[in-house]
Amino acid sequence: MHTTESLDRFMADVRSGLKASPKHLSPEYFYDALGSHLFEAICQLPWYPLTRAERALLERHAEEMVAPFGAGASIVELGCGSGEKLALLAAPLCKRAPRLCVHLVDVSETALDLSRRTLGRLPRVETSAHRARYEEGLARAAARRAVDAQGGGGAVLVLFLGSNIGNLAPAAAAAFLAGVRGALRAGDGLLLGADLVKPAADLLLAYDDPLGVTAAFNKNLLARVNRELGATFDLRAFEHRAAWNAEASRVEMHLVSRRRQSIRVGALDLEVAFDEGESIWTESSYKYTPDEVVRMGERAGFRCHQQWIEPVGRFSTTLFLAEERAAGR
Ligand code: AVJ
Repeated sequence: MHTTESLDRFMADVRSGLKASPKHLSPEYFYDALGSHLFEAICQLPWYPLTRAERALLERHAEEMVAPFGAGASIVELGCGSGEKLALLAAPLCKRAPRLCVHLVDVSETALDLSRRTLGRLPRVETSAHRARYEEGLARAAARRAVDAQGGGGAVLVLFLGSNIGNLAPAAAAAFLAGVRGALRAGDGLLLGADLVKPAADLLLAYDDPLGVTAAFNKNLLARVNRELGATFDLRAFEHRAAWNAEASRVEMHLVSRRRQSIRVGALDLEVAFDEGESIWTESSYKYTPDEVVRMGERAGFRCHQQWIEPVGRFSTTLFLAEERAAGR
């Protein structure tokens, strides 16, 4: 389901991505209703430790993670997923305040629904859902600061968890974090979840699981283009492939054409030719070292308050604080 604006963008992105060389489609389009549920299933796979590792950190350290934020603070979660992690952090903040305002920002209606349902179980939490891309949703939520704090001048804690940052190439990640910093004030925070570099075999298993759930998640993108844009992709004629690119420190996901073929995208009046073995690049998941995560936040104008590392799944959660900017900058 799209708004006119998001449909226009989807059409333009599919057109330019399929005409490009190499062909590519953005991972942001994985998350239609089925894609969102397939992602939730991935999070439960024994081969995908990311979600469990992050949850373990939040379960253990939620109090410390929200300690710098007092009464009147609000939370903005970018890419809210199921809302479960947010609930872990909201609980200690709720103890301190009569109510807590939470803003959910996601392009997926399904993710917003799941999160709303999870948070609905918490008393005193007031939830606003913003079906929007990150930048726009954050701007909308930040504009509500005074109302949310009920005159209390509360801080804003932005959550960007689950290694969502991993979908952004380093330059885009830097620009994105600088944009987040620009929307914040001194005393606000950013809790950033980033997956860490680990042995290639572990990464490949996480992105090419033996049950084929990740393959289904990847191919569902073609099913979505078929359904929403009247395309003729034969899902069986494409193969899911995951590869670890050590030099770029990213896992890449591709859909590889099993044969020479031509497909049509009706709504775009577009014909696309594939060679045998030619791929559509659908996702990059960048992996970092703990230090790189700290430096990335610092370069965006944050100070690292504390970092927590989960050793088994090799995952990091880092709390950054926005500081007073030096005068004249
Ligand atoms: C939601 C972007 C963090 O990159 O690990 C899971 C998505 N792709 N399996 C990731 C994903 C394949 C996930 N992120």
